[in-house]
Amino acid sequence: PLHYRDDLKSVLIPYGLVQDRIEALASRIFSDLHIHIPEQLICICVLKGGYRFFSDLVSKIQNENRLRNDRSLPMSLEFIRVRSYVNDRSTEQIEIIGLSDLNALNNKHILIIEDIIDTGVTMAALKTEIEKFQPKTIHVVSLFTKRRKDKKCIFKPDYSGFEVPDHFIVGYALDYNEYFRDLEHICVMKESGIAKYKIPGSGHVE
Ligand code: PRP
Ligand code: MN
Ligand code: MG
Repeated sequence: PLHYRDDLKSVLIPYGLVQDRIEALASRIFSDLHIHIPEQLICICVLKGGYRFFSDLVSKIQNENRLRNDRSLPMSLEFIRVRSYVNDRSTEQIEIIGLSDLNALNNKHILIIEDIIDTGVTMAALKTEIEKFQPKTIHVVSLFTKRRKDKKCIFKPDYSGFEVPDHFIVGYALDYNEYFRDLEHICVMKESGIAKYKIPGSGHVE
């Protein structure tokens, strides 16, 4: 859109390609997990970055349910708020809001739905918290995983949509200081864009 035109370097993954990949993930997850029916699969949305992926993935699993009459995968939907980023860096202080609002996870099948695993610190912390509820199974799906130059990622998801290069990416609900969530394609920012929306005095010294 017009309001971000000067802040972006390039489109890394167009919206349509993201949708195609989510469709493939949905069918794969459906095939792997429908064996647990008639029990519900509890899908946990990791807000805010995960909201669009969650929404599209859940609808595409619903499509699988609609298209088949031999099997289906019932789901229930839960939401949790997790954050740690300021500017383009993890503070490694993982703030989790809404854990106590989650409905009985005990003995249930859980699918955690996240937008990106970068350092892995967020998902490692969240999964540890979810495990305390003693679910029957926990699977993690992340739309993106980062191919970090320092090779330091401490978490590997069960399912991943795309492996992306070591750039800070935005769009499709992924933000930089709350900007760019309202961008449809996955994009890479210009240095000037990073500087423009930077929160001064926060995060790391370069
Ligand atoms: C981002 C992203 C993931 C996490 C990944 O969330 O949405 O949740 O960081 O980073 P990590 O693997 O290095 O921990 P953020 O803290 O920006 O909150 P948000 O989802 O509200 O944007
Ligand atoms: Mn997030
Ligand atoms: Mg963020």
